[in-house]
Amino acid sequence: MNTDELREKYLSFFETKSHRRVGSDVLVPTWDPSVLFTPAGMNQFKDHFLGKVKLEFTRATTCQKCLRTGDIDNVGRTAYHHTFFEMLGNFSFGDYFKKDAISWAWEFLTDKKWLGIDPARLSVTVYKDDDEAAAIWNEAIGLPFSRILRMDEDENFWPASAPSEGPDGVCGPCSEIYYQLDSGKSVEIWNLVFTQFNRVGPPPNNLRPLPSKNIDTGMGLERTASVLQGVPSNFHIDILFPIVQAAAEVCGVKYHYDSDTGRRLRRITDHVRACTLAIHENVYPGPKKARYVVKRLIRRAVLDGHQIGMNDPFMFHLVPVVAKTMGSAYPELRETVDRVSRVLKNEEADFFSTIDAGLERIQKVFAEMERSQKVMVDGRDAAMLYQTYGVPPELFQNLAAERNYSFDWDGYRQAMSEHEEVSGSGRRELFQTGPIETLKEALFRTDFLGYETTTAEVIVKGIVVGSDDQSRLIGHVRSGGDTHQEIRVVLDRSPFYAESGGQVGDTGMIQSDHFRFRVTDTHRTGELIIHSGMLEEGEMKEGAKAIAVVDEPRRNAIRRAHTATHVLHYALQTELGKHAQQQGSKVDADYLRFDFSNQEAIPEDRMEAIESMVVKCIQQASPVTAKILPLAEARQLGAMMLFGEKYPDPVRMISVGDYSRELCGGTHVARTDEIGCFELVTEESVSAGTRRVVALTGDAAVQHRNKLAELAHQVASLLDCPQNQIVEAVSKVFAEVRQLRKQVAGGGGGPSDAFHAPLGTSLRSNPVRSSVKAIARLLNVSLDDIVPRITTLLSDLESLRKQVAAMAQGGKISAQDLIERAEIIDGVRIVISETPGASPIMMRQWIDQIRKSGSEPSAILLGCKTGDDKVVLVCGLSPVLVERKLSAGAWIGPVANIVGGGGGGKPDLAQAGGRFPERLDEALHAAKQVWLDLAAN
Ligand code: SER
Repeated sequence: MNTDELREKYLSFFETKSHRRVGSDVLVPTWDPSVLFTPAGMNQFKDHFLGKVKLEFTRATTCQKCLRTGDIDNVGRTAYHHTFFEMLGNFSFGDYFKKDAISWAWEFLTDKKWLGIDPARLSVTVYKDDDEAAAIWNEAIGLPFSRILRMDEDENFWPASAPSEGPDGVCGPCSEIYYQLDSGKSVEIWNLVFTQFNRVGPPPNNLRPLPSKNIDTGMGLERTASVLQGVPSNFHIDILFPIVQAAAEVCGVKYHYDSDTGRRLRRITDHVRACTLAIHENVYPGPKKARYVVKRLIRRAVLDGHQIGMNDPFMFHLVPVVAKTMGSAYPELRETVDRVSRVLKNEEADFFSTIDAGLERIQKVFAEMERSQKVMVDGRDAAMLYQTYGVPPELFQNLAAERNYSFDWDGYRQAMSEHEEVSGSGRRELFQTGPIETLKEALFRTDFLGYETTTAEVIVKGIVVGSDDQSRLIGHVRSGGDTHQEIRVVLDRSPFYAESGGQVGDTGMIQSDHFRFRVTDTHRTGELIIHSGMLEEGEMKEGAKAIAVVDEPRRNAIRRAHTATHVLHYALQTELGKHAQQQGSKVDADYLRFDFSNQEAIPEDRMEAIESMVVKCIQQASPVTAKILPLAEARQLGAMMLFGEKYPDPVRMISVGDYSRELCGGTHVARTDEIGCFELVTEESVSAGTRRVVALTGDAAVQHRNKLAELAHQVASLLDCPQNQIVEAVSKVFAEVRQLRKQVAGGGGGPSDAFHAPLGTSLRSNPVRSSVKAIARLLNVSLDDIVPRITTLLSDLESLRKQVAAMAQGGKISAQDLIERAEIIDGVRIVISETPGASPIMMRQWIDQIRKSGSEPSAILLGCKTGDDKVVLVCGLSPVLVERKLSAGAWIGPVANIVGGGGGGKPDLAQAGGRFPERLDEALHAAKQVWLDLAAN
C-alpha cells in the first residue's frame, strides 16, 4: 500500500466513524508560543481539549505535518526516526473514550477492508495502573495478557512522566500499539492517549479527573507505511526513497543501506524534507528559534554532504523531488520550488564557505589540547565555536575521533541549551494557564464589530491587572494607585481590531459615566480580543456598560495603508513576477512595510513602474469588497494566500477591483481612491532572497512628497542650478571632491572621469522627487541628511581646491632646486628650505632623492604652510649621520617648538606640525643653529 493510500484510508476510516476531516495545521504555529514547530496532531486542538472554544464538532481526524528535534541524533542511524514526519490522528473532545478509541484502532489495523494487518503481529502496552485499558484490550479485542504489557509513566503517559514531572494541565495514560517485524523486533506505530486528568502541582494526589474526557491518538505515517510496504526502514517507503536516490545521484555516490554514506544520505533526505517544508512556510534559516533550527538542519546536511565529498551546494537540487513525493498531500509545495531552492542554495553556499575556516579553528583547538595534554574536547569550546563561527560539532567530533580524542557532548549540549536554541520537543508549558485563559474558557470569544463600525455599546467582561506570572483577574479597578500598571480589558464585543495579519491593533477609548479607559493597543488570544491600556479616570467594574470608541482617524489611516499593501503586492507580482510573494508585512497608520521574495535589489526604474501602477490603481477608484467563502473556492478564484499562515474555513477574501484577491482579516477602505496618495520610500534587503519596501499613504505620503519638493528646492539653490539638474550638479560636486581628495592624498590624479550623473532623469514620472531620492542614494545618506551633507561637500570642495592650487605651486620645486640651495659644513650637505604648496608625501620624496644623490651625507629639513593655516615640517638624515648617533627627531623638536608644535619620528626621518605659519621663517632660520649644536655634541 503506498503512503498516499494509507493517508487517505486513515482519514476516510475515521470519517466513517463520524469524524470531521480537518486539514493539517501549519508546521510553524506562530500562534502558539509554547512550541517552535507543531509537535503532534493534537497541537491545533489544545483549546478544544480544554473547552476553550465553542465546539462545532466533537470528533476530528487529521494528517499533521510535524517536526521534532528531540531525536535528531538518531536520524539516519535508526530505521524509524525523523525530524519532519506526518502524524495521523483521531481526536475526541468529550465525546467517545477508551473503548471506541481502542476498538476503532484495532478495526482499522486488522480489518481486510482497511489495513488488513495480521493480528498476530500486534501487541500493545498500557500504563501500569490503567486496568480499564488493559481490560478492553483483553475482553473486547481478545488480546491475551501476554501481549498487553504494563509500563511506567515515562513510557505510557502523555506527556511522558507528566504525573511526577509535569507540566501541569491535561494529560493521561496512553496505550501504544506495536508491530512485530520479521526480525522479531517490534516497532511502535500508534499511540492512543486517554486524556482524562488535569495535573495540578507535584504528587501525590495531583491528578484530578477531567469532567469531559478526550482522546488524542497519533499514528506515525512513515512507520506504518514502512511496515505495510515491508521495507527495511522508513527511508525506503515510496515517498522517501526517491529523495534518498536523488541525494545519492546528486552527491555522485552509491547508496548502501548499511554504510556510513547510507546513513548520511538518509540524514540528508530527512533534513532536506524538513527544510523544504519549513522554508515553504516562509521560515528561512536565521539566528533564532524556528529559523535557527532550520539553519542547523541545513548545516548538518551540508556537513554530511561535505563528508562524502561535496564542496558546493547540492541539497537544493532535491527540493523538486521533495515537492514531487509530497505533492499529492501538499500540492502547494510545487508552487514554491524555485523560491525554496534559492533560499536553500544560498544558505548552503554560505555554510560551505565557513567549513574550511572551521577546519582551521578546530586544528588550533587540537594544538592547544596537545600542549596542555588534554584528550577530551571541551563541550563549551565546541559550543562557542559553533555559535560564533558555525563550526559544526559533528565535524569537530569526527576529527577528534581521528586523533583518539573524546568529545564532551554533555558539556556541549548544556552550553547549547543555555543558548537560545529551543526545539519543539523541549519540556515547556504545554498548555497556557492564567487569567486570560480563564476568561477564554468562560467567554470563548469576543464578537468583532470593527468591519462595520468603530463605536459600540459594550459590557466589560473581564479586567486583568499585572503582567506575566503576576497577572490576576479583578472585579473592579480604580484610577489613581493602579493607573500606572498595565490593565487588560475583555469586552463582550468590540469594534477594536486586534493586531494580526501584520495590521497593528487599534487604539481608542472605552468609557462610561463612571470611567475612562484609554486603549493603547489591542491584541488577540485565540478568539478573545484583549484591550491593553490605562484607566485614566473613575472606577471600572466587571459587568459595567460602556461605549467603546476606536480612534477613527488612525483607523482610517491604517485602512489606507492596508488596502495599499494589497495593491502593492499585486503591482510587485505584475512587475517582477509571481515569485515576488509576501513574506511578511506591517500595516500601520499611513505606513506600510512589505517583505517579499526577490533575489536582487530592484532597479530604480522598476520601482518607479511599481509605484506608478499602484498610483494608477488608486486613481481608478476601484471598489474594495470583502466576501466570506469556502477556502477551496477562494483558492480556485486565485486568491493570494501566504504559505505558513493559518486560515480558517470559510475564509474572508478581499478583492480590489478585479485585479487583486487576497485572503485577509484586516480592515480596508471602500474604494481605492480613499488611499489618496502613495509614495514608495525605501527598498532594501532584509535577508538573503528577501527585499523590503516601505511606503506611505494618505497624509503621510503627501507630507513626504512635500518634503522631497522642498529638498529639491534647497539643493537647487545651494548648487545654484535649475531643479531639473540637481542630480547632475550634486554628482559633479561629489565626483570633484573625490578626485581632489585623491590628488591631495596621493599627490597624483589627472582629470576626473566621474563627471557624469549616475541616473538620467528624463524618463521619470516625477523627475524632481526621483532626483532627490537619487541624490540620497548617491550620497548614501537619509533624506534629512542631504542638505547638511551637500553643505559639507561644498566647503570641502573649496578647501580642497585651495590645497590643490598650493600644491601646483609646490609642483614647480624639484629635488635638484633644493640641492642647489645646500650648504656644506664639516662634510655634511645641509638643506634647509621652505617648500610652498608641498604635501608631506612630496617632502619625503625630495628628502629621499637628496639623500641618494651626491657624495656627502645629507641633513635635510623642509617646511611648508598648509591650506588650513598650519605648518608641516619634515626632516631626514643620511644613514651615515644616523650611525654617528645624530637624530632627525632630535633636530626637528626645537624647530617645531618655534612654530607652536611638536612631533618626532625615527632617527632617519621625522615629521612635525605647527600652529603658527607666520613663524616658519624664524623656525627655518633657527634650524641651522640647532643642527650645528647637535653635530657639535
Ligand atoms: N500526542 C500524542 C503523541 O504525540 C498522540 O498524538 O504521541
